[in-house]
Amino acid sequence: MAVSKAVMSTSCRIQLCADGSRATAIALALAIALFVAPPSYAAAPPSDTSAAGVRGMVVSESEDAARAGVEILKHGGNAVDSAVATALAVGVTNPAACGIGGGGFMLIYIAKTHAFYALDYRETAPLQARPDMFLRNGKPDEELARDGILAVAVPGEIAGIDAALRRFGTMKFQQIAAPAEKLAEGGFAASPHLAGEIAHLAPKLKNDPGLSQVFLKPDGSMPKAGDTIVETNLAATLRRLGDDPVANFYHGEVATALAAFMKAHGGLISAADLANYRPIWRNPIRRRYQGYEVYAMPPPSSGGVVLEMLGALDSGHLAGLGIDSPPYLARLIEVMRQGFIDREQYADPAFVSVEIQRLLTDSHILELRERALHKKSAPQPQSPAHDHGTSNLLVADKDGNVVALTTTINTVFGAKLSVPALGLILNDEMDDFAVAPGVPNAYRLEGELANQVRPGKRPLSSMTPIIVTRNGLPVMTAGGSGGPTIVSGVLQVALDILAFHLDPASAVAEPRIHEQAAPDVVLVEEAMPAATRSALEQMGYKLKVVPALGAVGAITIAPGNFRGAFDARKGGGALGY
Ligand code: DON
Repeated sequence: MAVSKAVMSTSCRIQLCADGSRATAIALALAIALFVAPPSYAAAPPSDTSAAGVRGMVVSESEDAARAGVEILKHGGNAVDSAVATALAVGVTNPAACGIGGGGFMLIYIAKTHAFYALDYRETAPLQARPDMFLRNGKPDEELARDGILAVAVPGEIAGIDAALRRFGTMKFQQIAAPAEKLAEGGFAASPHLAGEIAHLAPKLKNDPGLSQVFLKPDGSMPKAGDTIVETNLAATLRRLGDDPVANFYHGEVATALAAFMKAHGGLISAADLANYRPIWRNPIRRRYQGYEVYAMPPPSSGGVVLEMLGALDSGHLAGLGIDSPPYLARLIEVMRQGFIDREQYADPAFVSVEIQRLLTDSHILELRERALHKKSAPQPQSPAHDHGTSNLLVADKDGNVVALTTTINTVFGAKLSVPALGLILNDEMDDFAVAPGVPNAYRLEGELANQVRPGKRPLSSMTPIIVTRNGLPVMTAGGSGGPTIVSGVLQVALDILAFHLDPASAVAEPRIHEQAAPDVVLVEEAMPAATRSALEQMGYKLKVVPALGAVGAITIAPGNFRGAFDARKGGGALGY
């Protein structure tokens, strides 16, 4: 009791002081009050998740895919060529997470013009979609938005890849797709992550002829890590796309097959939906953090939420608190909570006026910081969602170009449906809409009206690749997978590198926390030191300890010195060259 009073009297859980000495005093007071040694704030030891490169770097959640990206760089391709080759390859080697049936975001820095570009090729609700399409007898049926034909939104992956290649690439689609085709045709070794996802989803995979044929053995058993998986039909589809993938995917025979599949199974996506799909070049958003400029994707991405959180934590004294210290983590928790409350205002800007510039102003950030100073609402513990879909990849090349790309089919194996002849796995991105106000989605994110289903609308996303510059030049890039833990994970890895000066491998390895306001429970990785966890509990936080929170990759960039790391939580590859 005395201890908890002493802790509360420091008010450190709600302090966002700009005063370093005061912050340090709070940390000290805490350590003394708790009669425990301060947790070790040393960086986690670098592991074999990291690599160094002289001319460039590719980081992916699949080592085979990273190798595809490096191969393209070695053949003279630039970061855009390499990123799309990596994306196509990871669609083959981690098909539970992403692929040509999905969509994503690409943040691009082109060195020659010192310019940033944000490409939105997010899936889109079909023209026949309606706000009440997931209500049955007046009640929301969330399962309809997750599994099955109504969950599918119009895929954007191929349109996005094509748009990026045509604008900034130097190679043709077939050259870029060659490594992916080879992996699909010749087979690849299932990663431990993929084997785990197949095991987790096996009962659902059994119900789909295409998925069971490819991802289960003929006797119905599951492949183990290291077993070879072959995706012959996907290889054929990639080849069939030729060098005009948009014409073939959205208008040609792939479109015809996809629309026919939809019609036969009661889906909403029509030939017109496919023909009308367009990727959108958007203006990247940015905000300063210390001496850096952080660039991110605008809505419907949650990039702005990361920028708001960084802004609220831009006190300059975080390092003095200590990386795993309770006062630092308490600040993170309160700022994350307020950031996620603001996230409710984010949605597709074509349908809802998202005041993104206002949300990034100093006055709004100050207001967020003030809100974080006030007490949180009563915690309502809930189980975290099991989900490790989505794939992030990062490329930096010798000419200074950088691409941060996150792509997804949403939850693991998307809608758990495939078009067998095409080898194409359908996304369940409709679940990223609000099925009904207040109804949580697969990530326990509660829906708001702004994110209601509308025909032709893009659902709000947590995917948030970032690129950070100093004096106008990129110095790091990061991105992740894991639903809303992408937002908190990218935030923490960025802070670990920018404020705590960790190298990418140490930053990615640091134990992470996650708070998303609703449900109001702090998720903490079990690797977080026990003393830190109990200090947070003594501050009044209800914690839920989980094995891992999403996966984040990062690259730091300096002339002739690229350092990259993938996340051991999910596996992958970081390959320099
Ligand atoms: O765009 C989004 O926010 C989600 N579809 C991302 C899903 C995801 O990261 C899956 N992994 N947990």
